[in-house]
Amino acid sequence: MLLDLIENRKSVREYLEDDISNDDLKKILKAGYLAPSWMNSQPWKFILVKNQDTKELLSQLSGNQPHVKNANALIVCIADKNGWSKEEFGKVLAARGIGESGREKIFNIPMFYPPLLGEDKVLLRTVEQVTYAVSYMMLEAKDLGIDSCIIGAISNEATVKNDDLIEKVNKVLNLNNNEVIITIITLGYAKENTPSNKIRKDFDEIVHFEKKGNKLTI
Ligand SMILES: Cc1cc2nc3c(=O)[nH]c(=O)nc-3n(C[C@H](O)[C@H](O)[C@H](O)COP(=O)(O)O)c2cc1C
Repeated sequence: MLLDLIENRKSVREYLEDDISNDDLKKILKAGYLAPSWMNSQPWKFILVKNQDTKELLSQLSGNQPHVKNANALIVCIADKNGWSKEEFGKVLAARGIGESGREKIFNIPMFYPPLLGEDKVLLRTVEQVTYAVSYMMLEAKDLGIDSCIIGAISNEATVKNDDLIEKVNKVLNLNNNEVIITIITLGYAKENTPSNKIRKDFDEIVHFEKKGNKLTI
């Protein structure tokens, strides 16, 4: 049952040296690739990183978090703001059978086309898409017996920008200024007895029935 998997998943920050097979890595990436997105926009890129020097550079980008350099592999998850350009977004709309006049209509409706609402909204909606893919990859990894940790404390537009470091990373990963690293997924096999932070607020504080404040009674 998927819920069992979800209950058993925890963020793991200490890994064995065992390698993850390429087959498994591909399955994890495929789960992200197949994730849903707003009108199928897919404004993302996922870069698998196994190279140790790159891992160390990415650890620096994440404030020297040790699990970033110690993981067996990393998936760098990128919000591609260019995914909303008329050209790129237009391609996916066309693939859905939306003709030129339909596409033009969409490009003029703020609710459907984030660029009409400004840069911040573009980033917000792009990040929104990436998070679904991250969840899919993390759960596929767990289903394969592979542990992970989401790394969101990264120097980027959503945190504190270190332009020099970002420029260095972008060069190594061949990214342009429209491509923002939002998340790094660390992957590896957990060391025995790795600690767990799996504490949550009370279920009734979070989940409500019909309106906020009503306890779920089903
Ligand atoms: C968006 C996001 C960003 C996160 N960033 C980091 C991070 O930078 N470093 C880290 O060690 N864990 C990070 N985490 C993991 C959380 O600390 C962890 O999910 C939370 O404490 C709950 O624990 P659990 O995943 O074991 O259930 C992040 C999680 C999310 C969803």
